[in-house]
Amino acid sequence: MSPRTANMAVAVHPLLAERWSPRSFDATHTISDEELHSLLEAARWAPSARNSQPWRFLVGRRGDTTYEQIFSTLMSGNRLWAGQSSLLVAAVAAERLEDGTPHHGAAYDTGLAVAQLAVQAHALGLHTHQMGGFHPEQLRSALGIPDGYRPLSITAIGSLAPAELLPQALRDRETAARERRPLADTFFAESWGNPLTVRHDG
Ligand SMILES: Cc1cc2nc3c(=O)[nH]c(=O)nc-3n(C[C@H](O)[C@H](O)[C@H](O)COP(=O)(O)O)c2cc1C
Repeated sequence: MSPRTANMAVAVHPLLAERWSPRSFDATHTISDEELHSLLEAARWAPSARNSQPWRFLVGRRGDTTYEQIFSTLMSGNRLWAGQSSLLVAAVAAERLEDGTPHHGAAYDTGLAVAQLAVQAHALGLHTHQMGGFHPEQLRSALGIPDGYRPLSITAIGSLAPAELLPQALRDRETAARERRPLADTFFAESWGNPLTVRHDG
């Protein structure tokens, strides 16, 4: 078990317990076409409201123009590390349904697709790190994203490298304990804020 595995109260599937968002990626690693295809399929088969599939993705492999363009739109803190990743994937949501009405759930659905991609990446022995720290309008103009489509996130994907390879400022965060709010502050029953009781003998 990795030291970054979530400290969970009960057993959860290793793909979920062991997923975490590193910043240290192996700059020599490349993703095979088969792995890439598998990631895309995992995202494509996500559920969505009315099967509307509002997601679109721009995919760059390190060394190609798409990667460089996506990378250039990242905020400076993310540019410190994300350029070592093997792939940069920008997630974009269609703001309208096919009949032209607003798609209020587009971001929700697109996040689900990214989550599926992240779990599939972990199943392939890769790691992912999602980022909201980028300039959406720069991404729009760099890659020709039309009106009506909203850039939501950029995900770095690659193979984990040792924390020691990171700049000092990022090293401590890479190895710090991972934290989450307690269950009782998150899951309610009977009324808002009243903790759900879960009886568990395991
Ligand atoms: C939508 C979204 C945006 C994020 N933006 C950034 C970001 O810009 N830079 C960064 O370093 N991490 C970013 N993260 C990563 C989170 O900080 C990270 O997922 C969170 O601290 C939990 O850590 P874990 O993924 O290792 O469990 C983002 C994550 C998500 C889901």
